[in-house]
Amino acid sequence: MKSLDLTRIAFGFGLFLQTTALPSGSNKHPRQPGRERVSINSGWKFKRWETNPDGVIYDQRPDLENLTDVTILKPWILPSGNDFTEDISNRHDLPGELPDIDVEYARNDFDDESWMSVNTPHDWAISGPFYTAPDNQSIVGGGMGRLPIFGVGWYRQKLDIPGDDKNKQIYLDFDGAMSYAMVWLNGELIGGWPYPYNSFRLDLTPHLHFDGENQLAIRLDNPVESARWYPGGGLYRDVWLTKVDRVHVGQWGTHFTSSNITAESATVDVEVSLENRGESVSEIDVFTEIFELDLDTGLPGELKVATSEKSIFVEPNAKPSVRHTLKIDCPKIWGPPPTQKPYLYLGVTRLVTKDGHELDKYETRFGVRDLVFTGSDGLQVNGQRIRIQGVNEHHDFGAIGAAFNYRAAERKLEILQELGVNAIRMAHNPPASGLLDLTDKMGFLVVDEIFDSWNLNKTDNDFHLIFSDWHEQDLRSMIRRDRNHPSIISWSFGNEVGEQRFPEELAEIATLLHGIVREEDPTRPSTASMNVAQPGNDGAAFPEIMDVLSINYQGEGIRDTPNYSGTNGTRTPPAYGIFHQDQPEKLIWTSESASALSTRGTYFFPVTDNGGAPVNDTSGGNETLAQVSAYELYSANFGSSPDKVFATQDRNPYVGGEFVWTGFDYIGEPTPYYTSRSSYSGIVDLAGFKKDRFYLYQARWRPELPMAHILPHWNWPDRVGEVTPVHVFTSGNEAELFLNGESLGRQRKQPFEYRLRWDDVVYEPGDLHVVSYKDGRPWANASVRTTGPAAAVRLTADLESISADGKNLLYVTADVVDAEGMVIPTADNVVEFSVSGAGQIVATDNGDPADLVAFPSTIRKAFSGKALAILKGTGGDGKICVSALSDGLGKGEVAVGIL
Ligand code: GAL
Repeated sequence: MKSLDLTRIAFGFGLFLQTTALPSGSNKHPRQPGRERVSINSGWKFKRWETNPDGVIYDQRPDLENLTDVTILKPWILPSGNDFTEDISNRHDLPGELPDIDVEYARNDFDDESWMSVNTPHDWAISGPFYTAPDNQSIVGGGMGRLPIFGVGWYRQKLDIPGDDKNKQIYLDFDGAMSYAMVWLNGELIGGWPYPYNSFRLDLTPHLHFDGENQLAIRLDNPVESARWYPGGGLYRDVWLTKVDRVHVGQWGTHFTSSNITAESATVDVEVSLENRGESVSEIDVFTEIFELDLDTGLPGELKVATSEKSIFVEPNAKPSVRHTLKIDCPKIWGPPPTQKPYLYLGVTRLVTKDGHELDKYETRFGVRDLVFTGSDGLQVNGQRIRIQGVNEHHDFGAIGAAFNYRAAERKLEILQELGVNAIRMAHNPPASGLLDLTDKMGFLVVDEIFDSWNLNKTDNDFHLIFSDWHEQDLRSMIRRDRNHPSIISWSFGNEVGEQRFPEELAEIATLLHGIVREEDPTRPSTASMNVAQPGNDGAAFPEIMDVLSINYQGEGIRDTPNYSGTNGTRTPPAYGIFHQDQPEKLIWTSESASALSTRGTYFFPVTDNGGAPVNDTSGGNETLAQVSAYELYSANFGSSPDKVFATQDRNPYVGGEFVWTGFDYIGEPTPYYTSRSSYSGIVDLAGFKKDRFYLYQARWRPELPMAHILPHWNWPDRVGEVTPVHVFTSGNEAELFLNGESLGRQRKQPFEYRLRWDDVVYEPGDLHVVSYKDGRPWANASVRTTGPAAAVRLTADLESISADGKNLLYVTADVVDAEGMVIPTADNVVEFSVSGAGQIVATDNGDPADLVAFPSTIRKAFSGKALAILKGTGGDGKICVSALSDGLGKGEVAVGIL
């Protein structure tokens, strides 16, 4: 516990108590205090159909041109977005009548006994099996991950609403639903939300049977060709019931901003939006108090500030707001590690009636921090320049799919933090809100992004279909949900949109979306990513309108070096200068850099020169194996090697930094081999295992961490006597390489060089050893040795114990090792995982993009020596015992406790 300032605490509470007599559970008001948030993640019944089973649809779609006799329900869904449409004349009235349909799956008396029982978050597609037909013959090809994402899914759940709740307002809150959600309660269509990445709320109150059973039925519809990646399918994020008094803080109804931040004090402005769904006017006092949050426990600590109340009359059906201004003394400032700490505060807002009854208590986490975006000196966070060392991340969590899981997200972020990442671009959609809780807590800088396409499509059924109807509601609701997260530094309203080539449409839409961002949150800059727009071309309006210049690939240059001359498409020399000259005041960052490709532990020869090269079958790639060499010099044909990106950034020091495409591999988009299931672009593979590239970035991003890393592995029985280049990634600037004790020379990084290369090494088995130096001092060592034959499977768990609630996950790595315990870098032994005790295997993986064995399989081939099992706790005898059996290698075992 922090040292307490008793004077301030006493003053704070004193002030609070003087102005209102708070109820202390007195009998006068026996009902529950105002707000309850009830998870309804358990107990769903679920069924999915590949073709339309029910004769209804949100709207016509290109893939369903031949579908006749369907009722379009869009008019009943559009009103669900009204709270996010500013101009009242653009809001949608509910049609006077309910649609003339009778959907049996929505009826209370429908028998769903035979449907699958599932808990949410649930991804209906992740279990597979993978489609294995060639890409052009597969209903879902490599682009969307070869998994059964498409079709219509219904989820049903009974809700028991006690009679005591009948004076309450009861909302159904979705953190996200994939996709075209339409919701029925007790047989009546009550609304929905088409865009799957937004959170949304529906009011159940008018349709509920109090003191009785209620049937909730949710229809989701995922088209084929709806994305350029794996979207997942289903209720893939949390679902809640929120019960509040008729007078309450509205949805995402607080907005905390901080200003005048000095070491001595900070001003915090709070806007509280209220709602009165009752029939009478209410006079209430609105309080906001601010507590410190303990960094380790996440619990409120010392009371910092209390407001005096603000009284307000809230009329029925009104949504007034109240503003508080508070001062925090000696504020603890939120900032990214390692140089700063992500301190958080908790704002507690209470609505209290004049006779002292607490109607609502609403908590908001926020941080106090100061951001300055400069054209000449990058991003300043709390007065310190922070280079953006960022990655792009898709929303999936590898083998467990798109279903949000807190531990899966935390593990991902832990690995990224070890890499030295301090920033994440949410490509290309708002993440689960739990992920942003984590980025706040761990101190990442986040670009929250919403659209991959506007009116012009990238795939036939992507969300360009709903852009004109929903862009405003989606953009405003994203910002209202996320604006209190200190980790968010910018809002992005587009990625590489097709409109870049059409000046008029571009200017019109960009101006509109930029204006919406300004209205919702004037404290953060807006942006959208440009891969072809540039000052002087059709896309010139973009850099003019944008607050921050987000450039994809153009900064480092696209196809501008000789190795890329054979590829077709946009070609541009490094473009930072063009943008900087045009908009010298605006911060530039590379929102997508490199698109370097590789497969963990796989190396092909010969190796290209320093500049990097596009992958093809004779250079860096092997179509038969569907793998890409991990010399970390190969890229997508519009991309660049990491080294080239580093050099271009260092030559243009005003650039704020980069977001690498990507941190982790993700499902779908397996450029260049669409027979595969997952991408090659990650610095970390799909299973969470580090590729060699991890160390190239770590050397740059964590220069103070003594580290040296050698590639390739040294198991090449077929290469004895052949030239086998050795590359070293180190945070030192010089290194000497030894092969079987003999020096192969000492090398020094020259300006704008980021790796050390010994390209003439002639392979002989044995020991490769590197000693690296920093400024002449010994810095770090590393060795790679030729291993013996496989002798055992070694299991390692990432946690010592996990909870039994099924939400916590355990990641167990299986390494195929030789008699000395060295991992065999080429091992592909089949491993069979099993579990006894209080756990269950959820999925397995090995990080091989070409492995089409379904994720739930407990049998998995090791890939480059490794396999992974993901388990959940199920409760039981206090231990989870995992074993892995492999022919001829016996059994590896590991046990962890259950909390
Ligand atoms: C970019 C695009 C990303 C991803 C990437 C692949 O152009 O914005 O979403 O597709 O290419 O390298």
